[in-house]
Amino acid sequence: MREVTRTIAFEGIWDADRSSLVRGIFDGLAADWTSTRDTPERALPLLDALDRGGVAGGTAIELGSGTGLVSRHLAERFDRVVGIDLSLEMLRHAAVGTSLVNADAARLPLRAGIADALVLMNMFLFPGEVARCLAPKGALVWVNSRAEDTPIHLAADEVLEALTASGTGNWSGVASRAGVGSWCVLRRC
Ligand SMILES: C[S@@+](CC[C@H](N)C(=O)[O-])C[C@H]1O[C@@H](n2cnc3c(N)ncnc32)[C@H](O)[C@@H]1O
Repeated sequence: MREVTRTIAFEGIWDADRSSLVRGIFDGLAADWTSTRDTPERALPLLDALDRGGVAGGTAIELGSGTGLVSRHLAERFDRVVGIDLSLEMLRHAAVGTSLVNADAARLPLRAGIADALVLMNMFLFPGEVARCLAPKGALVWVNSRAEDTPIHLAADEVLEALTASGTGNWSGVASRAGVGSWCVLRRC
């Protein structure tokens, strides 16, 4: 997962085979996802990112929302929340009150600039789509629930580097750690 995460973020390597492989992996994990991961501690880095990154209100779109483990926290802080995931099985196991969409984050069925916040927790980074769908002052909220031990992980400087290298303009923000996780909040500058 580590190498796949990097090649997606930095080289844009994502095709039908890779999409199908990833979907299959998470379809297979879906039944046990919530019962093995739903702890208060797991949400700490996200909550810290939202608080200290000054992210609230408007439309939040969570990419790779899985079974919606942090959806309730997003619903408390935003006017509208939409979860998007490639794996239909993950969405089927989601017990959330927010809207859910089965789609590939590499080609989002969203119009440009629609999101005030894009939340990615343990999710692959597709820099072009992130930049396209974020409102001009919108925030990318990047969270790794177990910091460097998270299989899908990029450090804050790598997220910044991938966004900049993809020709999506200049970005800046804040980064920190909370609990056993890490996070950054980046905006265009
Ligand atoms: C490691 S899980 C994290 C799930 C959730 N964010 C959490 O922290 O509990 C990664 C999620 O991203 C989804 N995913 C992977 N690639 C995706 C893509 N290209 N588009 C949308 N979702 C994707 C997977 O199906 C999976 O649900």
